[in-house]
Amino acid sequence: MTSPSRLSDRPRRLRRTASIRAMVRETRLEPADLTYPLFLHHGTQSRQAIASLPDQYRWSVDLLPGEARELYARGIRSVLLFGLPARKDALGSENFAADGIVQQGIRAIKEAVPEMVVITDVCLCQYTKDGHCGLVDAQGNVQNDETLVILQQVALSHAAAGADIVAPSGMMDYMVQFMRTALDADGYPDVAILSYAVKYASSFYGPFREAAEGAPQFGDRKSYQMDPANRREAMREIALDLAQGADMIMVKPALAYLDIVREARHHFPHVPLAVYSVSGEYAMLMAAAGKGWLCEVQAGLELLLGMKRAGADQIVTYHARKLAEYL
Ligand code: PBG
Repeated sequence: MTSPSRLSDRPRRLRRTASIRAMVRETRLEPADLTYPLFLHHGTQSRQAIASLPDQYRWSVDLLPGEARELYARGIRSVLLFGLPARKDALGSENFAADGIVQQGIRAIKEAVPEMVVITDVCLCQYTKDGHCGLVDAQGNVQNDETLVILQQVALSHAAAGADIVAPSGMMDYMVQFMRTALDADGYPDVAILSYAVKYASSFYGPFREAAEGAPQFGDRKSYQMDPANRREAMREIALDLAQGADMIMVKPALAYLDIVREARHHFPHVPLAVYSVSGEYAMLMAAAGKGWLCEVQAGLELLLGMKRAGADQIVTYHARKLAEYL
């Protein structure tokens, strides 16, 4: 005979109505959880479509105030800026120029919507001729410590333009420590650092490299980005960046690395944890949605919920603009 207690233990009771389901819901997504990446380019009145990222654009600075107001109205509270410079050179000089494209963009957004949190990507790959995330020597090797001095200049120029948070994405050792030291020494102790602490050498960055024109001109990024096979090493990267003064940490990409997100949340319960749902993740869903095989909104929200459930506080996603409307 089946025991009565076994027959009365019924999880379906709490799924009966939408209101009961809302009461017992464990994870909630809000527009403010989402950070929207914006690509900036020179020019005026220009909103240029990006073929590899449907519904995403390269913006000229004069159009940013309108876009920032629209994003804010949809509930989005943070943007992540990437710049396409007028020209690339060996040092990537526009990267730290006072009137560089990102520096102009920061000022335009902060002027239009002061409440918008402006985060900037700090890296060399869009700005240098060779397209690597660090300076490269004659043999083609990425030079870690020489790069740190440039990252300091970039962080300072973004801070001077009004950035709230600078986000180093180049996976150079000690990038957080050098940026923190420079910011503090130059009078920007309140500018926070969101470190791309765990960034894998991923094939899911393909569409972004087209969008930002930042593909490496030779070789790959495996000497600085992490091996996708490694989980323990990710915890070591996070510990190092926190010790150097990172205020927030990020795992990137998101979808194929949710175990890393879960583990990072477990080992580092007290720090804000972000994930970057990268261009290839967005492109996959948009391609399927374009064929009518998946619903962009329903499947997109489910993916973002999964990232939050895994432990992320903040999600950088190209879906932010559209999906914020549904939250
Ligand atoms: C630059 C950078 C990349 C991305 C963010 N910052 C490209 C790369 O490392 O090759 C990828 C973002 C995306 O794919 O959406 N270091």
